[in-house]
Amino acid sequence: MEGQSATSLDPIIALAKRRGFVYQTAELYGGANGLFDLGPYGVELARRIKERWWQRFVLAREDVVGVDAALVTPEVVLKASGHVDNFSDPLIECLECHIRLRADHYLDEADADTWQQRWAAEAIKQRGIGEGRARDEAQKAWEQFARTGELACPNCGKVHWSEPRAFNMMFRTQLGAVEGAGSTAYLRPETAQGIFTNYKNVIDSLHLKLPFGIAQQGKAFRNEITTGNFLFRVRELEQMEIEFFCKPGEDEHWFAAWLQLWDEFLKTDMGLPEALLRQYEHPQEKLSHYSKRTVDHEFRFPFGWGELTGVANRTDFDLAQHQAASGRPLEYFDEATRERYLPYVIEPTMGVGRLMLAVLVSSYREYPQGRTGEGEAEYVLHLPAHLAPVQVAVLPLMKKDGLAEKAREIQQALVVKGVVARYDDTGAIGKRYRRNDEIGTPRCVTIDYQTLEDGTVTVRDRDTMEQVRVGVGKL
Ligand code: GAP
Repeated sequence: MEGQSATSLDPIIALAKRRGFVYQTAELYGGANGLFDLGPYGVELARRIKERWWQRFVLAREDVVGVDAALVTPEVVLKASGHVDNFSDPLIECLECHIRLRADHYLDEADADTWQQRWAAEAIKQRGIGEGRARDEAQKAWEQFARTGELACPNCGKVHWSEPRAFNMMFRTQLGAVEGAGSTAYLRPETAQGIFTNYKNVIDSLHLKLPFGIAQQGKAFRNEITTGNFLFRVRELEQMEIEFFCKPGEDEHWFAAWLQLWDEFLKTDMGLPEALLRQYEHPQEKLSHYSKRTVDHEFRFPFGWGELTGVANRTDFDLAQHQAASGRPLEYFDEATRERYLPYVIEPTMGVGRLMLAVLVSSYREYPQGRTGEGEAEYVLHLPAHLAPVQVAVLPLMKKDGLAEKAREIQQALVVKGVVARYDDTGAIGKRYRRNDEIGTPRCVTIDYQTLEDGTVTVRDRDTMEQVRVGVGKL
């Protein structure tokens, strides 16, 4: 049977919760908007993604090293980087019901589908109406907007908005018990600044020569005006970024090289199909305050195309800003040419949560009548084997007669060999196969009475459901 992809995020959100990938933060108390917790399999999937990335871009390369900087960032750093003044989105407020929206999401150019999808999602969030009704209303609101330029409020339907104002997205806090000059700090809005502020330290410690990169994986925080689409737009996110320092003039070469590496990583390492990926070149007038050129990779989510990753040419903007603000020289001394200059920086970046979502979307298939075509609905995550939270499930047919002990022994032997193998004896064997299909386990190894006699086991393939008998030594 051919499986069907998800046409909305709902079945993916349901599977993620049911099977322990992702839970809403503080769900016990009604949930917190834009925050999610990873469950037992989510944490494994995220680790596999991050480890693959680190292996490929740090451990396997001679020219990239890693850092792990503090999340709480003193205000001086973010003042110099421009975030205190510029890291904002335009906000409008409905003067009737007081909901707040991102002005650019509704008032700037947007294709009809994306616009209506956003409007409908906001209507569902605000009023809890059904998807069908929200879609009908969104279509009417779009027709009104396209005809007259009037934006109907997704909550109260009125057209009465404040002027747009800049809303800074950083979470502010203070260091220590005394408020005042010097104590203001922010949860970092990107991991990048902790790399720029350590650039000189790293050069001095490791005597690195240009070109070289500094990589970091870690949390970043953005008080987004509106959140939504599950892991797509959240307020606490995890990034994987590299700041790649090079000689000015070589920046365009390195930009192209990193864009190509990002492309390969998404397709080869993450297994994302070409048909669900496209590149988007930011127009000059929409570039971030630091960027000379930015190209995103977009992924086709069930709700439409959305940014997955980016590569930006940050020029010498950040180092120049930090040099001026700190009064400390950050120039690089080029021994070959005897020149001093500020390096240019190419920044390839991606978000772990969006990547996880893309991997889940591209590997999810549902089979309404089961995979044989005559049973109950089945759901399978056809994950690339190296990303699966469990690589091998070891299943004793029965818990008795020494089968459980044998299964545990085999599971331990696999773990010693570096395989992520899990022992599972809960429920009938068919249920255990279904459960493992849903979490994307590529192989199930079943231990039965014959195993005790001749040392063979059955190995079931998740995708073909074929079972073969092999000797334990061959596993
Ligand atoms: N240092 C550059 C930077 O932070 P960005 O495009 O703002 O650039 C990088 O963010 C990546 O982080 C994005 O491509 C996306 O994958 C992820 N990201 C950004 N904001 C996000 C949010 N609110 N929720 C989830 N992921 C987000």
